[in-house]
Amino acid sequence: MALQVNAGSTHVRPAPAGRVAYVNGRYLPHGAASVHIEDRGLQFADAVYEVCAVLGGRLTDEEGHLDRLERSLRELSIRMPMGREPLRLVMREMIRRNRLKDGLLYLQVTRGSHKRDHPMPAVHRSTLIMTARPMNLTSVEKRRAEGVAVVTLPDIRWGRCDIKTTGLLPNTMAKTEARKLGAFEAWLTDAHGQVTEGASTNAWIVTEEGVVVTRSLSSNILAGVTRLGVMNALKQEGFNALEERPFSVAEALAAHEAFITSASGGVIPVVSIDGKTIGDGKPGPVTRQIHMLYSEFSRQAAKA
Ligand code: PDD
Repeated sequence: MALQVNAGSTHVRPAPAGRVAYVNGRYLPHGAASVHIEDRGLQFADAVYEVCAVLGGRLTDEEGHLDRLERSLRELSIRMPMGREPLRLVMREMIRRNRLKDGLLYLQVTRGSHKRDHPMPAVHRSTLIMTARPMNLTSVEKRRAEGVAVVTLPDIRWGRCDIKTTGLLPNTMAKTEARKLGAFEAWLTDAHGQVTEGASTNAWIVTEEGVVVTRSLSSNILAGVTRLGVMNALKQEGFNALEERPFSVAEALAAHEAFITSASGGVIPVVSIDGKTIGDGKPGPVTRQIHMLYSEFSRQAAKA
């Protein structure tokens, strides 16, 4: 009897026929795509990633994601696996081959495969993988219409959260705990009781005075591409009541509105924090307007 070799995907539901992954220069059936067991991404999370939204077949915030990918790689001295232009071509080819209309494109670059040893090898050949999957826009829009609950949890991550590494265990632990508590997202808090960001989103509030607040960039948070898009959209609109500064959980609880941003959901209203209602418990008008401004802004940029 022939044994079926299933390259490391035993716990993954079978991919729909026609789903294609990219691994180091090859387009492969998703279920058959794999990397070497000594890849440093697998062994040490010595890898960075990006998640890009695809809407109507077009990449959202492409430049921002490529800029951040290059920065993350630079910070870790991992080589870009190919130039920016060829990378764009592969991204588009993935969208085409997967017939992706609305979905997420995932890119990961690792320091490649080596004998397992902690010091980073002086010379390496990066691994590049890409996957694509359709997104359920109905559930995203339901979250946008109804708002979501968040819970606060201690931020137990490392000191370089500005690098988008695949070392996400604290994030996945927080997200899992949030879901157990009936919330959609966890807001992580630092030693001073101030919110850093969500487990996989940036955190925002709208104060009683209508000021939009999000934490300033530092090594404590990821510079969200959607965060930047929202800020640029607001600036383009001449909106000046924007503050980049830390805010406490107490300030968030007293806020008029709150929301989260990420490539996978755009702008999503937060209607409760730790079980306490924010504003009137419904998505607020400022959040709705910011969603509309950002959507239009990113759609225009995608056309260019
Ligand atoms: N998460 N903060 C963290 C810790 C994140 O992981 C993310 C993104 C964000 C928002 O960044 P952006 O707007 O660039 O998506 C903030 C992605 C979506 C993920 O890991 O799936």
